[in-house]
Amino acid sequence: MSKPTTFVAVTSMYVLSMTMMFLCPKVIVSAGAADKAAKFDEVGKLLLPSDYRTWVFVGATVTPNEMNGGKAAFPEFHTIYMDPASYKIYKNTGEFPEGTMMIKETLMIGGKKAPSGNGYFMGDFVLLAAGVKDTKRFGGERAGWGFFVFGNPSDQQPKSEVFPAAKCNSCHAAAAQERVFIQYYPVLQDAKPK
Ligand code: HEC
Repeated sequence: MSKPTTFVAVTSMYVLSMTMMFLCPKVIVSAGAADKAAKFDEVGKLLLPSDYRTWVFVGATVTPNEMNGGKAAFPEFHTIYMDPASYKIYKNTGEFPEGTMMIKETLMIGGKKAPSGNGYFMGDFVLLAAGVKDTKRFGGERAGWGFFVFGNPSDQQPKSEVFPAAKCNSCHAAAAQERVFIQYYPVLQDAKPK
């Protein structure tokens, strides 16, 4: 009589452990290739995803020209997005998976007065920049991240070449996690498992 009981017990343990493997988020370390937001052409140019404004909005910063000697390093408002598949993994692991793509759109300050009060209000779009984690493509001094500029979001070039490391990666070495400035992105700080 004990045999069927043992068999049932072993079978249920197996089913349970398989279910745990599927359910346990830590097991998922990277998204499948099909899920990856970052896609490259045959010569390694990054293709601009058309749907990035539906991605996860992780933070916004503003560097007004008037506080930066008349010309800030980047046009004034910056809005930052992360691809949703990588965000999901980040939320579980606290790490950026291979293929993570971050997008930054910049806009000028359009006005300083609104019914809500005095302040800085968004004006025209100026440029769109991207960062992609791909340790195979962007090794060495790039430390796993490639950076790209696509120009004005309303007049897009569909592809961009990786920028020289000295132009982007060196400044991004001051970022709090890898090459991403999570110190300015409250959504990512909140998403990181404690
Ligand atoms: C002077 C320093 C500096 C340089 C140079 C720089 N960045 Fe950044 N970048 C920042 C800072 C600081 C942030 C954090 C958000 C913000 O304030 O814009 C940032 C954020 C970003 C983000 C959002 C994701 C992230 O990594 O935090 C992208 C994408 C980006 N930069 C692209 C570029 C590209 C492309 C270049 C080269 C053309 C570049 N950056 C050069 C300082 C710099």
